[in-house]
Amino acid sequence: MSGSLAGVRALVTGGSRGIGRAIAMALADDGARVAFGYHGSREEAEATRDELWTRDAAAAAIEADVSREDECKALVTGAIDVLGGLDVVVNNAGILHEQPLLDTEVADFDRVIGVNLRGTFLVGRESIRWMVEQGGGGRIINIASDLAYLGRARNTAYCASKAGIGAMTRTWALEFAPDILVNAVGPGPVDTDMLGADVMSDEQRAQESDIPLRRIGRPDEIAAVAAFLAGPKATFITGQTFGVNGGSVMY
Ligand SMILES: NC(=O)c1ccc[n+]([C@@H]2O[C@H](COP(=O)([O-])OP(=O)(O)OC[C@H]3O[C@@H](n4cnc5c(N)ncnc54)[C@H](O)[C@@H]3O)[C@@H](O)[C@H]2O)c1
Repeated sequence: MSGSLAGVRALVTGGSRGIGRAIAMALADDGARVAFGYHGSREEAEATRDELWTRDAAAAAIEADVSREDECKALVTGAIDVLGGLDVVVNNAGILHEQPLLDTEVADFDRVIGVNLRGTFLVGRESIRWMVEQGGGGRIINIASDLAYLGRARNTAYCASKAGIGAMTRTWALEFAPDILVNAVGPGPVDTDMLGADVMSDEQRAQESDIPLRRIGRPDEIAAVAAFLAGPKATFITGQTFGVNGGSVMY
């Protein structure tokens, strides 16, 4: 395939739907070969893979729970096998669990941290390990959130996990410069299953009306920035978190 990402081999976690799916599509549309992880619905994953095939992209779906170390190792190894290597990794898989602090059990906290933060750590570590062993470069793109900065009542674990992803992004950027560029995208509210317009709480709607651009975002608007960060023009950028949020946070 031609395009600015021709020859690029990319892994996207949580790629079967929502923002991850849009990122997989955007990378493929720019010419990348894409493997994506999914957890849960095989039908959803196969539909995304088939859509990628329809767009003439080489694509594979690999099941993996990113909160589990063994499954993350298998996901990264599987992506390398199917793609013939790895140049770009997008840590997108995540869960949201709204719960008052005083009702939050350790198991609830651990589950959100386990998927969002430990999952990013595990897939990032295994991918970077392979990139370092190859002696080449690479790009890591972590999906954070504007809530890392804003905070939100009843979202302790989620906000903490996303702030942790920002810190991990800066740490890896320092540790693996100049070969591997590590950045994050911090979306504001985006219309997906996680935060569909139809399931938004009154508080979320109120926050939405505070957004300077006065709407929630679309998955393709997040994907466009991820694709840019994966591409040949993003060569002097590392350790940054890009707010794609309609102005909800201004850095
Ligand atoms: N939608 C928003 O408003 C919004 C805002 C800011 C950040 N984000 C972040 O964007 C990312 C994508 O969110 P989305 O809105 O597309 O949500 P979504 O629920 O539509 O998709 C989440 C994806 O993560 C995968 N996933 C969940 N648990 C997993 C696990 N244990 N192992 C592997 N994969 C798992 C799901 O299968 C799914 O593909 C998340 O990290 C989320 O925190 C979303």
